[in-house]
Amino acid sequence: MKRLRILVLVHPDLIPPNSTKGYSEQEINEWKTEYDVVKTLRGAGHEVRPLGVHDELKPIRAEVEGWKPDVVLTLLEQFSGEAIYDQNVASFLELMHVPYTGCNPRGLVLARGKDLCKTLAHYHRIPVPSFAVFPMHRKVRRPARLALPLIVKSLNEHGSYGISQASVVDTDAKLAERVDFIHERIGTAAIAEQYIKGRELYVGVLGNDRMRVLPVWELEFGNMAQGDWLIATEKAKHDPDYQERRGILHGPAKNLAPDLSARMQRMAKRIYRALELDGYARIDFRLSADGIPYFLEANPNPEIAESQEFAAAARHDGIKYLDLLQRILTLGMRRGGPSPSAD
Ligand SMILES: Nc1ncnc2c1ncn2[C@@H]1O[C@H](COP(=O)(O)OP(=O)(O)O)[C@@H](O)[C@H]1O
Ligand SMILES: [Mg+2]
Repeated sequence: MKRLRILVLVHPDLIPPNSTKGYSEQEINEWKTEYDVVKTLRGAGHEVRPLGVHDELKPIRAEVEGWKPDVVLTLLEQFSGEAIYDQNVASFLELMHVPYTGCNPRGLVLARGKDLCKTLAHYHRIPVPSFAVFPMHRKVRRPARLALPLIVKSLNEHGSYGISQASVVDTDAKLAERVDFIHERIGTAAIAEQYIKGRELYVGVLGNDRMRVLPVWELEFGNMAQGDWLIATEKAKHDPDYQERRGILHGPAKNLAPDLSARMQRMAKRIYRALELDGYARIDFRLSADGIPYFLEANPNPEIAESQEFAAAARHDGIKYLDLLQRILTLGMRRGGPSPSAD
């Protein structure tokens, strides 16, 4: 690949140092994605400039117009502290006609709402858990069709923000309490979903018009405490000590019937299309004991540290880390016209 000028948008606290020397595992964990991406692309000879972005668009514009990057690689998961503003940054880049990596703004909007993405998937005959939405300042009444236990989450946060063992509720009192917690502490509407007991499986997809689907990947909960729900809580996702203590590991899903695994890959592609995603995304499922893969959510622009699920699944499928990053850059540079549906 020719040498590129790459502007990398990152959270201002996550501008990576040049070396991991002297940092604890916990500290490295905070900016490992940013570190891996910058280091790997620089190592391949690209000119890489990280830019910290909090709540200002002007510096992005100044860099785009002044430095003229070939592509903007965005690792931002929020703008001004708001996760749902990621689509606005993508829109801004789109309006400047600068190529950027990851998903287009419409896909980001469609995938964001944990209700909307399930409604769209359901229309395409993908199994989804039943759910109810509890808007802010509204009394919590469980619809009769929704049986306990339920899992209560923020309607549009991600990264397991607000998800702990207490998120799974088996009484109406606990449901009301947890919905309140989401409203008060996370500050968003809540969604309560039918709790799917089973395996946690992820399918990565890469592509714009043509898609490459990665092998089905599993998050395993090796050694949870007695009575714990096997779910990806905030700790399970982000705390390396906890992961080690609890034997939380990821790897290729073992002992899946080949036709089930192929079906899940086809489902992942259908979901990717239905939600108008492009670039790269990870589609998450829970596989129930009776073998039904329920679609949980789509993550456009999932985290791509070398050790994380997406990059690990790609490597397992023969796509080395540098190759993966370069494919993501190429997909950003090759994205078609202003709207995917207008092509
Ligand atoms: N309906 C469900 N049934 C069982 N587990 C669930 C369900 N919804 C979420 N979970 C668990 O909670 C985790 C986080 O939920 P998710 O909807 O993916 O939110 P986030 O966007 O924060 O990652 C999932 O990875 C899974 O382990
Ligand atoms: Mg998730």
